[in-house]
Amino acid sequence: MKNNYDVVIIGAGPAGYVAAIRCAQLGLKTACIDKWLDKNNNPRLGGTCLNVGCIPSKALLESSEIYQQSESSLTQHGIIVDSVSLNLKQMMDRKDNVVNTLTFGIESLFKSNKIDWIQGKASIESNGLDKKDEQFSKVVMVQLHNNETKSIKTNNIIIATGSSPVNLPIAPLDDEYIVDSTGALSFDKVPPKLGIIGSGVIGLELGSVWKRLGSEVKIFEAQDTFLAFADEFIAKESLKLYSNQGLNIKLNTRLLKAETKKKSVHVTYKDTEGDHTEIFDKLIIAVGRHSNSEGLFSDGFYAEESTLEMVEGGLIHVNEKCETSLPGIYAIGDTVRGPMLAHKGSEEGLMVAELIAGNYRHVNYDLIPSVIYTHPELAWVGKTEQALSTAGIDYQVGTFPFAASGRAQAVNETNGLVKILSDSKTDKILGVHILGSQASELIAQAVIAMEFGSSSEDIALMMFAHPTLSEAFHEASLAVSGNALHITQRKK
Ligand code: FAD
Ligand code: NAI
Repeated sequence: MKNNYDVVIIGAGPAGYVAAIRCAQLGLKTACIDKWLDKNNNPRLGGTCLNVGCIPSKALLESSEIYQQSESSLTQHGIIVDSVSLNLKQMMDRKDNVVNTLTFGIESLFKSNKIDWIQGKASIESNGLDKKDEQFSKVVMVQLHNNETKSIKTNNIIIATGSSPVNLPIAPLDDEYIVDSTGALSFDKVPPKLGIIGSGVIGLELGSVWKRLGSEVKIFEAQDTFLAFADEFIAKESLKLYSNQGLNIKLNTRLLKAETKKKSVHVTYKDTEGDHTEIFDKLIIAVGRHSNSEGLFSDGFYAEESTLEMVEGGLIHVNEKCETSLPGIYAIGDTVRGPMLAHKGSEEGLMVAELIAGNYRHVNYDLIPSVIYTHPELAWVGKTEQALSTAGIDYQVGTFPFAASGRAQAVNETNGLVKILSDSKTDKILGVHILGSQASELIAQAVIAMEFGSSSEDIALMMFAHPTLSEAFHEASLAVSGNALHITQRKK
């Protein structure tokens, strides 16, 4: 039985490691292969999310927010801090410690669940895939970190190889001055002038971190619409707030070239007024991520007998159960369609583990919450107002500004609003959009409500503790029928 498994998972990010734990809990003999090495060449579990994504970025967002508050907004509370200074190394060390605690935590969960962690780069062999009736017919080759190769047989494979940053050939990374998100999580000095290409989620979150720590930040965005995937009204409101915070976001701007000269980055771009060149101390490229599917299949994999379909952009094609066209091979997380979010990958991992064990579980792709962890935060679930209009669905809207919330006033977090969209005929909630402090936590209430098919009236009839930011969700649902209490509304 050595090297023979019920399930082999390739990739130990939040999609793969969660799938591995659930497979093991269900009694399946499980191995998880991952090639990740940290900056000291130590193998690490957790993938992008834990090592260079969700966790370190949120650690820095928190530290930088506290720094900025100590520098400025504490005075509004009557707290005078005579001098605030930044120890960036200590801030980075704290971030690294948070990452280490969590990655070691997964390591110990692997041990306690008896999951074999195989450290190296995996590729799937075409050999044996057609022997559908034979147990352990699939073969995965692993190039171990010590350069030896290992052959593993398995019944099922879950591909969870994640994604990597998209590179721009006109702005090649040098990992010191022109960097991707990973480089931008580890600057050893605050860059006085920071340029960012792309005003998506990474551009806004990491731009906020370095702005709060003292950089002058300019973000170049190719599209003329800011956050085109978010609700239009909420996106416009957030753009005003970010601009007031000093994030200089230039829409409709095309990057022509970026190159490092004498320890600075020369950025040439085109806007409606023509071509310009500007000099920055660092430039972050944050123009999206692409699926890691290259090199995953051995030479000859695409031979005639193989029927695995790939779709455009390298995404591995799967159905709603995350099955590929080859029986017993599944793919989950960033490497398949859908938003590139940790929680979406984890849910897919749980679903596939249950399916392999002969049970049932599904992922509700209509209710995947999204969050941008700026300050205030932006969070939403379900449909945007523009999507409902385009689909010709009649809807009603209720909004409530945090400025009218007692708790928001007490905690000095009055920016933003809650917006609820519900069906005009049935009142079923179709979308919830929140711009405000703690929006990442508040949105969970909307997910729960929508999973239960709640109407806005259902929420309006529930009791919320006072004073809480959650009351804004309650008031927004009252506002759908024109009955909000703490704002003046025209009765509907
Ligand atoms: P990954 O986490 O990318 O893991 C894939 C793993 O597969 C890696 O460990 C890799 O080493 C391994 N691998 C790849 N190929 C092979 C191979 N051939 N052999 C062996 N191993 C292989 N999402 C959120 O939901 N919330 C956030 O706040 C958030 N913040 C982010 C901040 C940043 C700066 C970035 C970059 C991303 C952020 N994301 C966030 C996105 C999130 O990190 C990804 O959606 C998530 O990590 C995807 O999980 P995954 O398991 O599919 O892939
Ligand atoms: P993104 O897709 O969010 O944004 C990229 C932006 O770059 C877009 O606005 C796009 O129009 C712009 N762009 C593309 N090419 C350009 C060019 N040549 N010049 C100027 N602008 C250009 O991608 P991002 O920010 O890189 O993040 C990748 C993914 O990582 C996100 O889509 C998200 O799935 C995930 N992520 C999630 C986070 C969260 O959940 N809070 C945080 C960070 C990342």
